[in-house]
Amino acid sequence: MTNILVTGGAGYIGSHACKALKAAGYMPVTYDNLITGWVDAVKFGPFEQGDLNDRERLDQVFAAYQPAAVMHFAGLSQVGESTRIPETYWQTNVCGSLTLMQAAVTAGCLDFVFSSTCATYGDQDNVVLDETCVQMPINPYASSKRAIEDMLRDFEAAHGLRHVIFRYFNVAGADPEAEVGEQHQPETHLVPLMLDALDGTRGALTIFGTDYDTPDGTCIRDYVHVCDLVDAHILGLKWLEDSKPSRVFNLGTGDGFSVREVIAQAGHVTNRDVPVIEGPRREGDCTKLVSGSTRAEAELGWTPTRSSMAQMIGDAWRWHQSGHFEK
Ligand code: UFG
Repeated sequence: MTNILVTGGAGYIGSHACKALKAAGYMPVTYDNLITGWVDAVKFGPFEQGDLNDRERLDQVFAAYQPAAVMHFAGLSQVGESTRIPETYWQTNVCGSLTLMQAAVTAGCLDFVFSSTCATYGDQDNVVLDETCVQMPINPYASSKRAIEDMLRDFEAAHGLRHVIFRYFNVAGADPEAEVGEQHQPETHLVPLMLDALDGTRGALTIFGTDYDTPDGTCIRDYVHVCDLVDAHILGLKWLEDSKPSRVFNLGTGDGFSVREVIAQAGHVTNRDVPVIEGPRREGDCTKLVSGSTRAEAELGWTPTRSSMAQMIGDAWRWHQSGHFEK
């Protein structure tokens, strides 16, 4: 069986990717330091604990498993936090990715799938956000992701490290079988916080900003189901296996939902009202991020099948009710 090194395989998206890899006939090898990940989420292949900045440990793992490719999910991903401690984002995301890429090149593992973000586009009014769009990050998290994209291009030119870069829009939902799901500590994402507010696990959901230049004053995002998202990664892996050129793909549906619209949908799906309070804007948030590209559909043959808002909230709700990972 072909081994794939999955950094961040104990995290939300990484664990779903491991399940998809296993189902596609690969062996996912999780490499994770468990700072934000959960050992219970590693269910589909071997686990190797380690840090991205630990070159010696990475070399050991590459030597032991001889992976055919790397899927790189590990990293810090909170926009607000990144504005307070940018140094940690550059150290973990940028320096860590650099160390990982150096280890991959040394090991001769030259196919690399990277999770980047639509946040690298920044706040661009009336601009269609496709892959050719200029990247203008407005927070350190997004700057760190753009820097890694730049490193990948330089590593390809110098060392032949080929890549597929996915720029995610907002990932939501959970494995429909609820084997894995979304859980962060602390939780900062809209959908899980909303579900906590719905079932009373925590207090009312705060809407971060109601004075944005959008129809209802709240931020607009393009939500994509985590299972659809990881399906694209399998296609990305096959793209590299087929020796196709390095490529960047947006992963979003092209449909934008405001925070208030997401809350209203959750009310319909669960038949309960989400308690909300209106608060100030959160630093670093873009007004609107909606994909304007169909490149992933056209070139990769990606077809999102679960990304309706009702399906995403329904799957997240099932996971939310069925249990959580223990530290
Ligand atoms: N929001 C609230 N209240 C909350 C939490 C979130 O109103 O308690 C709002 C945010 O302000 C934002 C929207 O809900 O407008 C979505 O927020 P999330 O925190 O769920 O997601 P982000 O858009 O901030 O960020 C996510 C990922 C990033 C990625 C980004 C791209 O965490 O990694 O999507 O948009 F880069």
